[in-house]
Amino acid sequence: MRYVFLGAPGAGKGTQAAIFSKQYKIPHIATGDLLREAICEKKLIGLSAKSYIDAGKLVPDKVIIDLMKDRLSELDAHLGYILDGFPRTLAQGEALAKVIDQGKQKIDRVIYFVLDESVLLERIIGRRSCPSCQSVYHLLYNRPERDGVCKCGVVLVQRKDDRPETVKARLKIYHSDTIPLVNYYKKRGLLVEIKADVPLEEVSNAIDAVFLECAA
Ligand code: AP5
Repeated sequence: MRYVFLGAPGAGKGTQAAIFSKQYKIPHIATGDLLREAICEKKLIGLSAKSYIDAGKLVPDKVIIDLMKDRLSELDAHLGYILDGFPRTLAQGEALAKVIDQGKQKIDRVIYFVLDESVLLERIIGRRSCPSCQSVYHLLYNRPERDGVCKCGVVLVQRKDDRPETVKARLKIYHSDTIPLVNYYKKRGLLVEIKADVPLEEVSNAIDAVFLECAA
């Protein structure tokens, strides 16, 4: 099972990828999480990526492609994965295609989360994240059991790049650099659009239907 979750910042990709990773026992590989972990651990790649992330810009393709080639060659990724936040440019899409071809594998589907920009802003502004286990919550729609505290016990924070001025920059780059991937995958017959401005469970049901159809 190899799936790509594609969509704007705040579309709900990470939330759904976490659910399906657990359900289907395949790794959830999120470039944003890998980079944030590298920053926390003060790794070189994290230190070089930090200024891009804080400014809402994309980390250079070469850095991301090398990072993902390494990650996808790990043992747990051999039988499948859900990619969240990668690819995000045509160059990254081509790089992924090469890795897939070399491994004589295939991507089952690219699930494209479709929703209105006003909903995205509300989701991003209300998002609270765990700096330790990377779990994601929302102040209104996906609250933790204990206010302000993750299930792992760590205090939740607002991501620095979730501030309104940075979100605007991220959305602009999404339109210029990531939207071209929609056509790229449409042409290859891999794209499935799902309505993402509905409650969490409804989005999950729509994705599950795609997974089940591919497995049939
Ligand atoms: P990254 O971490 O990948 O951020 P993103 O793609 O902008 O996506 P988000 O994490 O913002 O949103 P999401 O779609 O996962 O939504 P979520 O599930 O959290 O990237 C961060 C940065 O890293 C980039 O800006 C860039 O600098 C760098 N980077 C990463 N990958 C890169 C790459 N490939 N190339 C170059 N640079 C890269 O949900 C959002 C909120 O909504 C949450 O609060 C959630 O609880 C809530 N929610 C979710 N679903 C619903 C629902 N159905 N109803 C109500 N609320 C919901």
